[in-house]
Amino acid sequence: MPRAIITGITGQDGSYLAEFLLNKGYEVIGMVRRSSTITFERVHHIQDAITIVQGDLHDQSSLVDVIEQYRPEEVYNLAAQSFVPTSWNQPVLTGEVTALGVTRLLEAIRLVNPETRFYQASSSEMFGKAVEVPQRETTPFYPRSPYGVAKVYGHWITVNYRESYDLFAVSGILFNHESPRRGLEFVTRKISHGVARIKLGLVDSLRLGNLEARRDWGYAGDYVEGMWLMLQNATPKDYVLGTGETHSVREFCEVAFRHVGLDYDKYVVQDQRYYRPAEVDLLVADPSRAQTELGWKPKVNFQELVSLMVESDLKLVSQEVR
Ligand code: NAP
Ligand code: GDD
Repeated sequence: MPRAIITGITGQDGSYLAEFLLNKGYEVIGMVRRSSTITFERVHHIQDAITIVQGDLHDQSSLVDVIEQYRPEEVYNLAAQSFVPTSWNQPVLTGEVTALGVTRLLEAIRLVNPETRFYQASSSEMFGKAVEVPQRETTPFYPRSPYGVAKVYGHWITVNYRESYDLFAVSGILFNHESPRRGLEFVTRKISHGVARIKLGLVDSLRLGNLEARRDWGYAGDYVEGMWLMLQNATPKDYVLGTGETHSVREFCEVAFRHVGLDYDKYVVQDQRYYRPAEVDLLVADPSRAQTELGWKPKVNFQELVSLMVESDLKLVSQEVR
């Protein structure tokens, strides 16, 4: 039975990846940081099938211990301070976790078992003020937030450890992917949850920032398969994963409100508080390398994604008010 460690297993992607690997017959070890409250909501349903171990990307020895104790074939580094606005408020913490945390984990692998295959969760945020459209593996980076800058570091240190120490270390440059398990502060979930609360009469408006920003939004469940495929490759190589379609935040609102028979224009209020000091205006992937070489293709389209998120939040919010 192959064994995998997932850092960030309590996050959106960690939960889908854990399900995916369990279905493939893996033994799944989830690394979690200590906190005073339990944050296992997203993995509650599979908690008996996985092993939870404590570790923190701030703490080198905890990472060495985890790799030494479990000696996994594969490590998926999904842990990060992943919310872009927070990276302006906490730039040093973001750098510690999202950038240097990657080096700490790579060091643990290099020292304990360099045969371990390593996946780094890189991001389309690295393209930032994009210098070409669509963005592919060779597009130069121009990050626009401390988070984006930290991810560029994480990306290059992964490439560097591959080239310096011959590790099987790869970086997946993933465009935005969403789901009913997305954190409530990210715009798609904020919209689907807001739509449900408005439809059920709990609130009468939804306050958002820049409605013109465009993203390449896919479904998280599809993207975890791409992560796994990258670690099954014959040679270590980096890939872009995305849908190749771009939509604005405004369009996301239109489709989400329309799904419950409402006009977004009557409810969405633009609020300066949600604007960013520097914006990423347009992201759209060219996922052709992943399609050709890995056979990876997203299955859920934009309309389906919006509908499944709104439906899920309608159910959730109605249970909460009952
Ligand atoms: P997420 O829901 O925010 O999950 C982040 C995870 O990291 C959580 O499990 C969190 O634990 C953990 N974590 C944070 N700080 C940690 C630390 N110091 N030590 C150990 N664990 C720590 O993020 P996601 O959406 O699943 O994304 C997964 C990864 O992909 C992230 O690296 C993100 O930056 C990257 N990414 C995401 C997208 C996307 O669209 N979702 C696109 C490209 C790249 P707690 O539960 O304790 O907070
Ligand atoms: N969060 C948020 N809240 N974003 C808003 C709002 C709002 O009220 N109003 C407009 N937006 C716009 C943001 O300005 C941004 O342009 C866009 O919606 C998407 O914001 P987020 O959903 O917060 O995601 P992100 O694109 O900044 O970052 C996500 O995707 C990256 C991949 O490109 C995160 O998951 C990152 O961790 C990930 O790397």
